[in-house]
Amino acid sequence: MQRQVYMDYNATTPVHPEVLDEMLPYLRNSFGNPSSIHWEGRHAKQAVELARERVAGLVTCDPSEVIFTSCATESNNTAIKGVAAACRSKGNHLVTTMVEHPAVITPCLYLEHQGYQTTCLDVNSEGLLDLEAL
Ligand SMILES: Cc1ncc(COP(=O)(O)O)c(C=O)c1O
Repeated sequence: MQRQVYMDYNATTPVHPEVLDEMLPYLRNSFGNPSSIHWEGRHAKQAVELARERVAGLVTCDPSEVIFTSCATESNNTAIKGVAAACRSKGNHLVTTMVEHPAVITPCLYLEHQGYQTTCLDVNSEGLLDLEAL
């Protein structure tokens, strides 16, 4: 029988057993919406805030700086559009590369329609940014 090897860890990974163990109680029983004011909601909110503190500890930032999103596409959109808006007074030129995922290119194209200029740089044969072009 042929052995299969999964090599698309860029797209998604299996859930780590420790993460699964942490999540199972919330998937099975404590499934409240953290925005709800009833007991289940408050219990879920406590779990989310504890997770936020733990992530903040891992990356050494303030818990208020940790934003949970549903996926990488939402994260990229939030980060790119957020930084562009926050830095609007400093400039309107976005620089990215030809090899970015559509989740990066698409918000850049959206911002182009909002008056930003986008430069898409080429990469070399190893997929690295062409510093001469930069
Ligand atoms: C760099 C990069 N950004 C964004 C995505 C999209 O991820 P999601 O499906 O979590 O939105 C992927 C998925 O492969 C990715 O590799």
